[in-house]
Amino acid sequence: MTMFPPAASRLSVSEQEQQLAQVAEACDGCRRCGLGSSRTQVVVSRGNPQAPLMVIGEGPGAQEDEQGKPFVGRSGQLLDRMLESVGIDSNRDAYVCNIVKCRPPENRKPTALEMAACRPWLDQQIALVDPPVILLAGATAVEGLLGIKGGITKLRGQWRRGEGGSLEGRWLMPILHPSYLLRNASKERGSPKWLTWHDLQDVQRRLAQLTAPL
Ligand code: URA
Repeated sequence: MTMFPPAASRLSVSEQEQQLAQVAEACDGCRRCGLGSSRTQVVVSRGNPQAPLMVIGEGPGAQEDEQGKPFVGRSGQLLDRMLESVGIDSNRDAYVCNIVKCRPPENRKPTALEMAACRPWLDQQIALVDPPVILLAGATAVEGLLGIKGGITKLRGQWRRGEGGSLEGRWLMPILHPSYLLRNASKERGSPKWLTWHDLQDVQRRLAQLTAPL
């Protein structure tokens, strides 16, 4: 896949790396909400900051909290396999992160206050990575980023254009969360997995259009 220039050519690769490292360090020391005290470690990102695709999930689970990387547990492995099936390598072609950077106890959904407290870190990641396309994995990612509650089955598969702030002009694609797909294993036509695979194909097509050499 053709790589996008780093941060829309505004930053050199090393400046981008340096500034993302500063964000990661600030996240490590963050106590803006209670999650900072109950986590094992902060989970900031994995993947390629120069990739044209950003994947945003809900928040770290047990495996992620232990390893310090997003989407490395069973949901992440399924997401990786599904992305791979449409030609996207999550570590090479995407930058992967979450709405909240610390694990909510018992894997509960992060509260509105926790999402709001963590939002400035996410906005900085988006601005520095500058991805033209963002994949929103699950209802909480949609709520945390766009403020839209519920209705993921209607929202999934529909492109949205980001408006304002760090989202301006970006293509946003909501999909079903991989943990839901783990509980719904059928690949039959019209099943959640089948629909998600089609949504990911759509993402791959958009990326191919956006990154095609002129
Ligand atoms: N689920 C998420 O939404 N994010 C992770 O990092 C892991 C599981």
